Amino acid sequence: MDALQRLGLERDWIYETIVATHVKGRVNSAPMGVWTPDLESIKLRVYKRTRTCEDIIENRRFVVNFPNSIKEFYGALLDEKSLNGSPFLEGCDAALEAEVSGIDDRGDCVDIAARILAYRIGENTRLINRAEYLALESLIAYSKLPSSSKTERASIVEAIKENHRIICKTTPGSRFQALVQELLGRIQ
Ligand SMILES: Cc1cc2nc3c(=O)[nH]c(=O)nc-3n(C[C@H](O)[C@H](O)[C@H](O)COP(=O)(O)O)c2cc1C
Repeated sequence: MDALQRLGLERDWIYETIVATHVKGRVNSAPMGVWTPDLESIKLRVYKRTRTCEDIIENRRFVVNFPNSIKEFYGALLDEKSLNGSPFLEGCDAALEAEVSGIDDRGDCVDIAARILAYRIGENTRLINRAEYLALESLIAYSKLPSSSKTERASIVEAIKENHRIICKTTPGSRFQALVQELLGRIQ
């Protein structure tokens, strides 16, 4: 409870993190969405085809790193993976060390539930989720409506609706959801 509340996580919001596993001296890291259903435990939905999934099922322990910037996601996805590093990643001021408490098979992915074993929260800690960016993108799209053609208007409205769908999924009940809901109300 303490770790997740101190970190400032909202219940059921999905945060973009970098999950690192450490198996047989090898560290693997990958961007993954993480949420807490109860401010006690965390959950991940991981595709079975990923190494992260294999490692977590094999080792049952992993580290959730909270990047200080978007750049760290690029590094985790695109750069050569470190073979002998630490699962506590550079450029991530907050991290949760977690142990699997449940695995729910969902076909091509699994939902992993985990308890927190230890945590650190540094001074540059930042929580990143998609909703804030999407709310801004939605407003930019909305501002283009007066000068758009009928076809452009249809695709702008579709884009805002899609943003709203993702915002509802990633930050249920948030102010971002309310803001984009208001935009949709104005254009429908
Ligand atoms: C911001 C971001 C979030 C992601 N979230 C997830 C996720 O929640 N679950 C998942 O299975 N893949 C997710 N991915 C895709 C994985 O990071 C990607 O498949 C990665 O290559 C898996 O690496 P691995 O095979 O080393 O585990 C995400 C990618 C990005 C960029």
